[in-house]
Amino acid sequence: MELVDAPHSKCGTFGFVGSSPTAPTALMQTYNRFPIRLTKGEGVWVWDDNGKKYLDAVAGIATCTLGHSDKQLRKALTRQLKKIQHLSNLYEIEEQESLASWLVSNSCCESVFFCNSGAEANEAAIKLARKYGHKKRNIESPIILCAKQSFHGRTLAALSATGQPKYQEGFEPLVDGFKFFSFNDSDSFLELHKSLESNGPKIAAVLIEPIQGEGGIKPGDKTFFKLVREVCTKNKILLIFDEVQTGMGRTGKLWGYEHLEIEPDAFTIAKGLGGGHPIGALLANNNANVFEFGDHASTFGGNPFACKAALTVAHEIESRGLLKQTIESGKELNKGLLKIVKRYPNDLETVRGIGLMQGLVIKEESILSAKDVTEKAICQGLLVVSAGPKVVRLVPPLVITKGEIRLLISKLIQTFEKLI
Ligand SMILES: Cc1ncc(COP(=O)(O)O)c(C=O)c1O
Repeated sequence: MELVDAPHSKCGTFGFVGSSPTAPTALMQTYNRFPIRLTKGEGVWVWDDNGKKYLDAVAGIATCTLGHSDKQLRKALTRQLKKIQHLSNLYEIEEQESLASWLVSNSCCESVFFCNSGAEANEAAIKLARKYGHKKRNIESPIILCAKQSFHGRTLAALSATGQPKYQEGFEPLVDGFKFFSFNDSDSFLELHKSLESNGPKIAAVLIEPIQGEGGIKPGDKTFFKLVREVCTKNKILLIFDEVQTGMGRTGKLWGYEHLEIEPDAFTIAKGLGGGHPIGALLANNNANVFEFGDHASTFGGNPFACKAALTVAHEIESRGLLKQTIESGKELNKGLLKIVKRYPNDLETVRGIGLMQGLVIKEESILSAKDVTEKAICQGLLVVSAGPKVVRLVPPLVITKGEIRLLISKLIQTFEKLI
């Protein structure tokens, strides 16, 4: 098949016309999918089954760190498949130990538990926090403080920790023991802390994203996070970061907390860790790690194949200098997006984000939604993803070049020209 930059047959004025004729019926309809079928990828590019080419600024939602079909990842995983694919955690696993030691020698934490996704990593963190609360703070019903507008995943406890009721409706009763403060709001945090702890210890942990992702690409405020760190340290409360989206170099530093100049006691990662292969992890320092034999487990967690994927991503980040490159390309992306904001001042408000985690913010009063932009961008051969109703999120692979970023910006300008 010739791979051409052909228009999408279903592109109308505001996006797609009609729904997908090929909508699969055997799948539960939990995803409102766009009617395109992507069948091939290389670097930052993907192709659909009609041969139309797209620049992928979604990257499996901040997941394909090295882009699609990366040569080194392909080679390493082919070798790994020939060697061994899966082993139970009943036995010692070499690749898991190597990955854990890379993670601890490159972070503030001292031990690692492996699982398969972001939500699972947060479930592990929630269990760790509860056990810590019982064991180290003597709390009967430990509470975890979380931020409004946060996102921690779709499993029941992670969903209960998520500060967005729209994801929770219909799944009540939620898991007990989560209380919410406003993100980046010191008064709100201090008030909640005081109201809960005035008669003795109640709070086991604070669980928070350093940059809110699904909540609209909102970077954490340094002063606020320093205050949270101080309160946690003073009261022996665990500070746990959800780095599922921000981790593994997405922001130009390995971990989002590095931008905030504080260290958490534990943090969770997934998405970019395996470069497209499912793997998640909970990392903790020695004070936070209260897990003992039998406390937590996962059949697939940290299997040799998944760990080899993550080890390869880690190695390539280092050997290709992808952190430095991400800072540079993040600046280029931010500059281009700001130009678009200047061009459409009635509809666009600002740009938020760090490194290659950027959000183009649409004004509340604009009739445009992030979904309109996303749909229209597909017609221009560009994949972007919304982060809430009014933020267009750009999280391309870390290997994107400056030339590709300039292409991305010109495709986005074409998108707005069609919309406005
Ligand atoms: C910050 C954060 N935490 C947790 C999750 C859930 O991860 P997963 O979809 O791998 O369960 C996500 C997914 O978007 C996320 O952005």
